[in-house]
Amino acid sequence: MKVIAHRGFSGIYPENTMLSFEKAVEAGCDVIELDVQETKDHVLVIIHDETIKRTTDGEGYVRKYTFEELRKFNAASIKKNFDFLPIPSFEEYVAWAKTTSVTTNIELKNNRFYYTDLEKKVIDLLQSYDMLNRVMFSSFNHVSMLKCKQLAPDVPCGFLTEKEIGNAGYYVKSSGLDCYHPDVTNLSETVVKNCKKHGVAINAWTVNEMGDLRKLYDWGISGAITNYPDICKAFVNNANKNL
Ligand code: G3P
Ligand code: MG
Repeated sequence: MKVIAHRGFSGIYPENTMLSFEKAVEAGCDVIELDVQETKDHVLVIIHDETIKRTTDGEGYVRKYTFEELRKFNAASIKKNFDFLPIPSFEEYVAWAKTTSVTTNIELKNNRFYYTDLEKKVIDLLQSYDMLNRVMFSSFNHVSMLKCKQLAPDVPCGFLTEKEIGNAGYYVKSSGLDCYHPDVTNLSETVVKNCKKHGVAINAWTVNEMGDLRKLYDWGISGAITNYPDICKAFVNNANKNL
């Protein structure tokens, strides 16, 4: 089971910052999950919410700021005792990720506000760094995932869901996609079996409880998206020894 660091090592470090990504790699994660949106002047940035209020010292919509304006807000303010950290650009992340061995689960945050051609912009940037073969895409916006698959057929794509889909494996496979990304609280063994039957990988979020880790490991799912990649990695290493 792969350890996927949710917004980086967000259990301890400010989410979706370069520090949280660096710490996730140090913790031994296999994959980093992050959220991509777009500024007013069309720069791709890494931030979870559509507004900057929860995670920075500012407020307002991401899409209403230019990149230069956005960079002045402190993305470290979500946690205590960290010095200033800017909202990273997606390009800054990709350039850094290229120097590591980590792969990336890029979540396109376009389910509440649709950023025109976000899919193409993300793919073009990855291509310019020759990094398309080290990523996978996911989104709650399933139409956007179909678009990604069309533009980059070799990149694994997954449907994110908040509510359980009984025949998820069939739904994903018949849509031409590769993965199912459910909320762990809604995942049942029946759905795991359905996905396996259709050759669909499951990456569940957000796995921060030991009981959930054990259950998902025993079910043999593909990846656990966690805020604590250190603990998750230690659990998986230990469980693998006892196989
Ligand atoms: O990609 C897994 C997870 O990040 C989806 O939910 O809201 O944390 O982006 P959210
Ligand atoms: Mg996400």
